[in-house]
Amino acid sequence: VARNVTLIDLSWRFMLGDVPEAVDPAYDDTHWRQLDVPHDWSIEGPFLATNPSGPRGGYAPGGIGWYRKCIRTNEILGDRRLFIRFDGIYMNSTIWINGQELGTHPYGYTTLEYELTPYLRNPGQNNIIAVRVDNSIQPGSRWYSGSGIYRHVQLIETSGLYVPTDGVYLTTPTVSKDFAEVKAVTEVHNSGQHAIHCTLKTQVADKLGKLLQESESILRLEGGQTHTFDQTLMISEPELWSPDSPVLYFVRTQVLADGRIQDELATPLGIRSAVFDPDQGFVLNGERLKLKGVCLHQDGGCLGVACLDRTWERQLDILKEMGCNAIRTSHNPPAPAFLDACDRLGMLVMVEAFDEWRIGKSPRVFTSDNPDEVVRLPIYAYHRYFDEWAASDLTAMVKRDRNHPSVVIWSIGNEIMDNDTASGAVIAKELLQIVRESDTSRSVTVAMNNVPKANLLGIPQELDVVGYNYKEKFYVADHAIYPDRIILGSETRTATPFVARGDYSEFVVQVREQSSRPHVHHDCEKLAASIGQSDFSTRRVDERIIQAEYSWSLTNQLDYVAGLFLWTGFDYIGEPSPYAWPSKSSYFGIIDTCGFPKDVYYLYQSLWSDRPVVHLMPHWNWDHREGEPIPVWCFTNCETVELELNGRSLGVRKLSDGPHLHLEWIVPYEPGELMATGYTGGKAVSVYSVYTAGEPAALCLISDKECLTSHGQDLAYITVQVVDAQGHLVPNARQLVELQVEGEGKLTGVDNGHPANEDSYRGNRIHTHNGLALAVVQSTQQAGEITIVAVVDGLPPCRIALKSKHPS
Ligand code: GAL
Repeated sequence: VARNVTLIDLSWRFMLGDVPEAVDPAYDDTHWRQLDVPHDWSIEGPFLATNPSGPRGGYAPGGIGWYRKCIRTNEILGDRRLFIRFDGIYMNSTIWINGQELGTHPYGYTTLEYELTPYLRNPGQNNIIAVRVDNSIQPGSRWYSGSGIYRHVQLIETSGLYVPTDGVYLTTPTVSKDFAEVKAVTEVHNSGQHAIHCTLKTQVADKLGKLLQESESILRLEGGQTHTFDQTLMISEPELWSPDSPVLYFVRTQVLADGRIQDELATPLGIRSAVFDPDQGFVLNGERLKLKGVCLHQDGGCLGVACLDRTWERQLDILKEMGCNAIRTSHNPPAPAFLDACDRLGMLVMVEAFDEWRIGKSPRVFTSDNPDEVVRLPIYAYHRYFDEWAASDLTAMVKRDRNHPSVVIWSIGNEIMDNDTASGAVIAKELLQIVRESDTSRSVTVAMNNVPKANLLGIPQELDVVGYNYKEKFYVADHAIYPDRIILGSETRTATPFVARGDYSEFVVQVREQSSRPHVHHDCEKLAASIGQSDFSTRRVDERIIQAEYSWSLTNQLDYVAGLFLWTGFDYIGEPSPYAWPSKSSYFGIIDTCGFPKDVYYLYQSLWSDRPVVHLMPHWNWDHREGEPIPVWCFTNCETVELELNGRSLGVRKLSDGPHLHLEWIVPYEPGELMATGYTGGKAVSVYSVYTAGEPAALCLISDKECLTSHGQDLAYITVQVVDAQGHLVPNARQLVELQVEGEGKLTGVDNGHPANEDSYRGNRIHTHNGLALAVVQSTQQAGEITIVAVVDGLPPCRIALKSKHPS
């Protein structure tokens, strides 16, 4: 076999604490815990108000941990080579094989690889890999980082004539409906001592594996030398990659010597052109496309950062349903599996490198629920490593991710403190140069919060695209002064109120008290000015929604603004601003940490997707408040909406008549059914009802899939609902649910989406929040049945049966 790639996620030994003697290959680790990676020890807790990670880190534990694994090589390697590749270890990892140190790697988000060949023992003997992970310096991050070997690990075995890591670079410099030019730049290394006549064969095949084009180059490669080949292949009538049609081709790279294959690898290829333009914003395959994006941190809620590939797929499915077409991986390089999913499912990506350059951050943190009790807390993050590591981390990021069609832009930093100083432009230039050494096909940006100052210091002038964080108010004026500038809303506010999903008491009081609100203007200058005047830190539910409507209206109307990335798509652990303990996860998300949409999800769906949307807030359970006026808001993209209470019409409203991007009613409360019907072109196209629910009568379990794959890394996301006797969700139910999983699955996490949830993410008991909770079940390596039983005191137990099947 030319190249063997083996996932070695299973059966590691783990010990929390520092065990320096574990470097010794003879060390006995049989008393250590056995586990599989991806693994994150922080998510196991305990989360404590006193943990030094503080509010920013979600009060999670850090510390030092060790991993060990035994690997055996069966045959004599001969001139073959063996490498170990960690997709990500958080953080400060040091790795040994058989007592020999391979290296230390501080940054927790870049991929690391070491060659093992020189240190291997004879075939059949044990080789001991030891990994020390040090996440003890806290607070070490502005958000929850997790700790441990939290991404996949691979062994890669090649012959002595091989393509080094990330040595294939594919671009599509010319793309049209008639043909596409595919450029393959490929490194080949001869690790032997003698020269070899080698052939590099590059083939493009379609998704069914049909060969479309081939290019062959021959060369005499001296021992110890690396050569970079340039090949161009033409594909006629290509199917273009886009979020709506994520068509993938495959490039097969073959290295041959004496007619025998020495190395072989396949790289997915998306044929697309993606450019940013000062007048048109973002242009994909020749057509203007507004980036309707969200920022995402990388935790997967109750899984912490130990996400499996299914976590990414599910996140992308939920976001695509909303009409989202872009993600910014704030503020670090993502897992490779995340980008694979974006390629496959169709999502545009801004990959971001850093949150700090040379100067560290001391962000504001809330120490209590009193908004005035704010302190600045220094964070010991990347600035400590920047000088020594930035160049290699940035190169590693770009080289690893440059073949993904989903990746359309690089960000070299977020709200960088150095950009308030004269050295900002100097560092930016250096980083841009580093990116361009490995990829010239994409634009580069910095997400900036202090654009006026940066303008004076000359930083935007260096960039391909200028990222504005929360600075919509400058779009119109800056475009007039800098007509060649490409403007992108790299971070903007969501409409999300600072309350947990499904909590409406503040909404009801605030909206009722507010007699008039400013209108959404259609004049862009006025719109920008009203954004400039509004208090962006407001805690008022209605104001946050209306501000976000302004922000989208402006972005949508200005063709030269490429789009926006909302802060954030999903809630993440850490940064519970504007609150503190016991809140430990964020309030900013459009979707909670369970993946359950909040109401404003439907605002964005109504604005961004093609599907007809009608959604009402709040719920309709206002016990003992008969006759009280309750505000009712409707998110819709239908031409008109009729609201009915218990079958009586409360009138028809039209978005085009009103000042906002949603509809409003005030309805005197009466229990029953509140129903909205959306009409377009005279036809009812969407109906939505909220019901006054009775007492909890039953549980209902809904799995996102019925059949899992028994490779040990598949997940089922199971929604637990508390319903009344009619089967309607009880919208304020808080019930303690106990879960049991039997058969070929295990419970890996529970959550209810409330930032102040006090139940452990890793236990089997979870309180529902506003009627809902989540259980995540992971497949084992055996096919079979999986039964999940949920029990609540006083209600009949509820069970659901799933299957797990062998990978086909
Ligand atoms: C931004 C920052 C994000 C997050 C957000 C919260 O300024 O880039 O990381 O902290 O504020 O509002």
